Amino acid sequence: MASSLGWRSFALFHVNHCGVFLKAVRSNGLSLFPWGHSPWRGTGSFLDPEMKAFLEENTEVTSSGSLTPEIQLRLLTPRCKFWWQKADLWPYSEPYWAIYWPGGQALSRYLLDNPDVVKGKSVLDLGSGCGATAIAAKMSGASRILANDIDPIAGMAIILNCELNQLNPFPILTKNILDLEQEKWDLVVLGDMFYDEDLADSLHQWLKNCFWTHRTQVLIGDPGRPQFSGHSIQHQLHKVVEYSLPEPTRRENNGLTTSTVWDFQP
Ligand SMILES: C[S@@+](CC[C@H](N)C(=O)[O-])C[C@H]1O[C@@H](n2cnc3c(N)ncnc32)[C@H](O)[C@@H]1O
Repeated sequence: MASSLGWRSFALFHVNHCGVFLKAVRSNGLSLFPWGHSPWRGTGSFLDPEMKAFLEENTEVTSSGSLTPEIQLRLLTPRCKFWWQKADLWPYSEPYWAIYWPGGQALSRYLLDNPDVVKGKSVLDLGSGCGATAIAAKMSGASRILANDIDPIAGMAIILNCELNQLNPFPILTKNILDLEQEKWDLVVLGDMFYDEDLADSLHQWLKNCFWTHRTQVLIGDPGRPQFSGHSIQHQLHKVVEYSLPEPTRRENNGLTTSTVWDFQP
């Protein structure tokens, strides 16, 4: 399995461990959350208090250094102790949700600048991570949102991030949606999800099905990762917009300089 996410200055995790972790989670795909295996609906008050305290203690609220300064997020930053500690001291699965990835940044910027793309529409944010793109969709007037991530801790982080932005949390699904019967969505957004070859293949199949069955619009944000640029999906993409990444994001992402939003049209 080849995974191209560069943790680089993110001192916690070595890049080679990422794919192994994801494969393990994908194989069971079940939520460890108290609200189980169906989309969560409710308010943040149902958050496990211990986990909430852990997340609050070990992340920093920030809105700087990304393409969307209007969205506040709890992220792992150099001011957090785990930024500097050894990976194996982190007690949970690898915190992809604690980084705001360049692909998600581009998508969120695009949705905030072009609310007509989501206004009144149903939107699935697949691989939501910190939830920023789902939050951008909500801010731009989407009528229905589902944030999906196989990491149950991402689900908690998304709830906290909704609250930070004065939004009622939207439904969150921590099951592997690729294994479920496909629902109809007006729009599916995927930020930085093509970082692993096996995952890229599965997503491609799933998205083709989504497009042909429901005529769903699919927008993909990607900063030019090899698993995306070298994938056969390239023949079915139309460039929507390319953003220059802010300096802090460049530093955290091995010198990637731009991130692009693509429209998938098989
Ligand atoms: C690189 S992060 C991107 C997060 C976010 N979209 C962003 O751009 O900031 C990839 C995320 O996809 C999630 N993920 C991986 N495989 C998945 C799958 N099959 N279904 C849903 N989420 C998945 C991971 O847990 C992780 O949070």
